[in-house]
Amino acid sequence: MRFLNYGSVNIDLVFSVDHVVQPGETLSSTGFFKSAGGKGANQSAALAKAGADVTHAGKIGADGQFLVDLLSGYGVDTSLIRLYEGASGQALIQLDKQKQNAIVLFGGGNLAITKGEIDESLALFGPGDMLVLQNEIVHVSYLIERAKARGMSVCLNTAPFDEKILGYPLHLVDLLVVNEIEGAALAGSAQGSTFSEVLEALVHAYPGSEIVLTAGKHGAYYGYRSLRLHEPIYELPVADTTAAGDTFIGYFLTSRSLGHGQQEALRYACKASGIAVSRVGAMGSIPFAGEVFG
Ligand code: RIB
Repeated sequence: MRFLNYGSVNIDLVFSVDHVVQPGETLSSTGFFKSAGGKGANQSAALAKAGADVTHAGKIGADGQFLVDLLSGYGVDTSLIRLYEGASGQALIQLDKQKQNAIVLFGGGNLAITKGEIDESLALFGPGDMLVLQNEIVHVSYLIERAKARGMSVCLNTAPFDEKILGYPLHLVDLLVVNEIEGAALAGSAQGSTFSEVLEALVHAYPGSEIVLTAGKHGAYYGYRSLRLHEPIYELPVADTTAAGDTFIGYFLTSRSLGHGQQEALRYACKASGIAVSRVGAMGSIPFAGEVFG
């Protein structure tokens, strides 16, 4: 299976802080680094590191060339990453003492993608190929509809969640990947619902979609038709949770495309994201296939 990931490419500006800055507060950081990120690009890196055949499509400014070089170094086909005159996407990330993050996004090139570019990119793919999407770029509905019209399957990760998602043609999505907050919002679940209840509601709301619900330290859940699965996390000391979900998705998809069953794919995905959170950074923290499938 070939994967076309149409997604964000961001420059991550990571500040280590005691706590996430409060309104009116000026906070000195204890560390800073600039690294490669973007949910889309991270997922492409994870797919490629896991051994999948992945093409990334998106848009960057001249400041983002190092991201393209990194992705192609991992084996991602970057020929559909277009260049424009503005800035690349930027993510201002605060990483606190508990290793939790808070992120402010500037869309940049991710929001400058055009429908014409989407048509040109999708024309190279068809039945048997999967389109992978997140919610950091424009025209997500159009991408889903056009990809399905071409006979592709579609995986949508609903992160970062916003109201727009409720208007997407989610009934067309083959694999829906949500975290517990996104899942509850989509399912309209009452506050305090259990993960299994949220999963159940999603399976009923989207009967044509496989559902993967990632639940942080509670592991990951899977539901499709009558099948329900759970996999606990792969526990390692936490250094930075950034890109944990992206790593999970890259490894889940690759594992399934290699013919592994759903439970096995969940296990590899949890192991890969467990390794990623034990390391600092986004794209650079994602493990290679030998560390996960070995
Ligand atoms: O999922 C992590 C990513 O979210 C970061 O790399 C940042 O760029 C934001 O898009």
